[in-house]
Amino acid sequence: MPAIITVEDLNKHFKVYKHHRGILGPLRNLFSRASSLVRAVDGITFEIKSGELVGYLGPNGAGKSTTLKMLTGLLVPTSGKIIVQDQIPWKNRTNYVAEIGAVFGQRTTLWWDLPVIESLDLLQHIYKIPDDRFQQNLNEFRELLELDTFLNTPVRALSLGQRMRADICAALLHDPKLLFLDEPTIGLDVVAKERIRQFIQHINEERGITVLLTTHDLSDVEKLCKRVMIIDHGKLLYDGKLHLLQEDFGGKRQLIVDFMENYESVSVEGGTITERDGTRMTIHFSSQEITASELINQLSAHYRIRDLEVREPDIETTIRRIYEDRLLEQPE
Ligand SMILES: Nc1ncnc2c1ncn2[C@@H]1O[C@H](COP(=O)(O)OP(=O)(O)O)[C@@H](O)[C@H]1O
Ligand SMILES: [Mg+2]
Repeated sequence: MPAIITVEDLNKHFKVYKHHRGILGPLRNLFSRASSLVRAVDGITFEIKSGELVGYLGPNGAGKSTTLKMLTGLLVPTSGKIIVQDQIPWKNRTNYVAEIGAVFGQRTTLWWDLPVIESLDLLQHIYKIPDDRFQQNLNEFRELLELDTFLNTPVRALSLGQRMRADICAALLHDPKLLFLDEPTIGLDVVAKERIRQFIQHINEERGITVLLTTHDLSDVEKLCKRVMIIDHGKLLYDGKLHLLQEDFGGKRQLIVDFMENYESVSVEGGTITERDGTRMTIHFSSQEITASELINQLSAHYRIRDLEVREPDIETTIRRIYEDRLLEQPE
C-alpha cells in the first residue's frame, strides 16, 4: 500500500509574548516584549498508508490539533515536510480541501443560522458534487448518523453530538479518500460517542476511507484504532499497534491464584510471587518467558487450585507510564 500521508521532521513553533500583570502591566508591556518559544510540534515523522485508521493520542496541549491544522493546510509549518495525496497542504489550498475531509470538534464548518439541510445543500454547490452522488451520500449518511430528526434545525440549536454528526456528514459528501477528525468525541456522552465511533469504523471499512483522528480519550483508540501514535510535548513517543504497546511497555501480566489449602510454601518457576494472603497469591510473569497456561499447569501439578484469574496490564496504566518515563527522562 502506498503512503497517503508522509510527514518528515515536522515542526511548528509559536512565539508567545509574556504579559505583565498588575496595574502597570499594560505600560510595561509597551516596553518589554519578553517572549518564549512553544514547540507545539517538535520534530515529528510518520507515514500513513491508504486505508489505515490511526489514532493520534495525547494529553491536552500535546500538539495534536497543531499537527492536524498543518495536515489540513490551516497552518504552515515552521519547518519540515508534509505530503498528502501528492500535494502540499498549505499550497493551492482550494484544490487541496476539495480532496480531503476535515472536522475540528471545537468549531463547525456549517452555517450557524441555517438549517442543517441547507448547509449541506450549499456544500454541494461549493464542492460541485454531482446530484446523484450527493443524494446517494446524503441518504446513506442520514441513516447511519441518524440525522433525520434535526435536518431542519438551525445549527446553533443542535446539541454537541448532533452538531458533530452533521459536521462529519458535511465533511464526507464530496467523497474524500482521507478524513481528518480533531477530537470527534469530545464532550459527548457514552451513547453519542459510540454512535460516532461506529460510523467512523463503517466508512473506514466499507468505503476504504483513510482516517486520522486525534483524541485525548483512550477509549476512542481502544475501540477504533489498530495503530496509535502517542504524542506529548510535541514529540512522538510511540507509533505502532496498540496491543504491542501493552507488550512493550505494559510490564508484567498477573496470574491470581486461589488455592484450596493454605500451603506453607509455594514455588513457581518462570514467575515472581508478588503477594500472598492466606490461600490467595499474585504471580507476575512476562509472556516472553512463560505462557499463562504453562504457569497454570505447573501449579496445578503440585497444588490444588480453587480459582484462577489472568490480568493483563491495562492500556491506561501503560500510557501513563510512558508519559511519566518521558517526564523523568527530560525534566523541564
Ligand atoms: N496559535 C498559537 N499560539 C501560541 N501557542 C499555541 C497556538 N496554538 C497552540 N499553541 C500551543 O501549542 C501547544 C499544543 O497545542 P495543541 O496542538 O492545541 O494541543 P492539543 O490539540 O494536543 O491539545 C500548546 O502548548 C498550546 O498552548
Ligand atoms: Mg486539540
